[in-house]
Amino acid sequence: MKVTVIGTGYVGLVTGACLADAGNTVFCLDLNKEKIQLLNEGKIPIFEPGLEPIVKRNEQAGRLIFSTDVAASVAHGEIQMIAVGTPPSEDGSADMQHVIAAARSVGRHMEGYKVVVTKSTVPVGTADKVKHAIIEEHKKRGRGSDFTVVSNPEFLKEGAAVEDFMRPDRIIVGSDDARAIALLRQLYAPFQRNRERIIVMGVRSAELTKYAANSMLAARISFMNELANLAEVIGADIEEVRRGIGSDPRIGYQFLYAGAGFGGSCFPKDVKALQRSALEAGRPLRLMHAVEEVNEAQKHVLAEKIEKHFANDLKGKTIALWGLAFKANTDDMREAPSVTLIGDLARAGAFVRAYDPAARHEARKLFSGKKEVAIVDSADAALEGADALAIVTEWQEFRSPDFAAIKAKLKSPAIFDGRNLYDPSALKAQGIAYYPIGRKT
Ligand SMILES: NC(=O)c1ccc[n+]([C@@H]2O[C@H](COP(=O)([O-])OP(=O)(O)OC[C@H]3O[C@@H](n4cnc5c(N)ncnc54)[C@H](O)[C@@H]3O)[C@@H](O)[C@H]2O)c1
Repeated sequence: MKVTVIGTGYVGLVTGACLADAGNTVFCLDLNKEKIQLLNEGKIPIFEPGLEPIVKRNEQAGRLIFSTDVAASVAHGEIQMIAVGTPPSEDGSADMQHVIAAARSVGRHMEGYKVVVTKSTVPVGTADKVKHAIIEEHKKRGRGSDFTVVSNPEFLKEGAAVEDFMRPDRIIVGSDDARAIALLRQLYAPFQRNRERIIVMGVRSAELTKYAANSMLAARISFMNELANLAEVIGADIEEVRRGIGSDPRIGYQFLYAGAGFGGSCFPKDVKALQRSALEAGRPLRLMHAVEEVNEAQKHVLAEKIEKHFANDLKGKTIALWGLAFKANTDDMREAPSVTLIGDLARAGAFVRAYDPAARHEARKLFSGKKEVAIVDSADAALEGADALAIVTEWQEFRSPDFAAIKAKLKSPAIFDGRNLYDPSALKAQGIAYYPIGRKT
């Protein structure tokens, strides 16, 4: 099939590459010339495990085209997938300007039947707005052609995006148009070979399903974080509690980890946007308000522990920081807890030496010109001259370090672990002060 993907970010690039890998010819449009140039030079602008070989082999096979040519992109695909960003606006609502701009360009250039698919995470009612934007463009041209708008939210996880796209748990298709549904069934057939994963529903339900999924996961994290803070003061251990409740199949083990708060490009903005939509609909979501409030506070917990350890005097201290990305296996630093921690430490007068296996490039852009932060190229280099170590991302390479070497390097051997990576008794035996989240030490 011929497919156009509008926006080549984490979602668009993975979607385009995986669809091309199944034999489709995919036209990936982005307005960012630098990004398209990089892709045309065979370089991948993001860190996403397994993506590069798929992009390369499909580009070489002529099934994956990267371009900034809007008219050509609209002409290419019967299916036009919108995968542009929907960042938060000032008031927390999703900023829809890119989605609507993409819809307008489809409306401006389309000839013949098109299925316009919103893959971006968008508030309920967006499909109608996309439809109206296209109709307005048709009116301006004085002619139009047949089209339908389908909601097909994306559930891939950064860090495992290729795997998630190739083997989805479910594919949500929000539409009541039989022709469009049939086309999407055909498109997704290669990704659901052992059982049907498509769930067809109303457009508005599909739009809400995406926010509901992310909000539920965010709620689990905030629940565990709040319990972890309680566990610390009443002498319980959140890891033991996690195992105790996770074993209940109604609860399960996933997304039950206490930590330094959730970040990333999705949960924080989606929790905010859902609240905003609910407020506008006159049905405020009290639970989601609490989820957000707990998370905002949790992002400061590690800094509070560090300040307390150093008797509220961080002036002139150096903190080594392992992990900058909002989670392992990505270079994405949007809303990362590391950024909050660095801000807190810098305000308290400390200097930070930070390392991340994949996000250094991103971090150097983010902290350029900031004297209180150095981004270094190895976990060891971060420890040079440091007083203590803080960990914010659960990268595999941080899980089993040489504790004796860490102890020898740190002036005041202490580890502040925002991911509960280590066994408290092992660190005690090493003579390292250990500050996890919600654990008995
Ligand atoms: N990142 C994730 O893990 C994830 C997962 C599921 C859903 N989503 C949702 O998918 C959407 C995209 O997220 P992302 O992380 O890929 O965003 P991103 O910021 O990485 O990429 C968006 C891309 O769209 C391009 N763009 C913007 N306007 C355009 C236009 N009019 N025409 C062509 N290109 C345009 C930008 O230049 C950018 O390259 C968001 O709504 C997000 O909430 C993201």
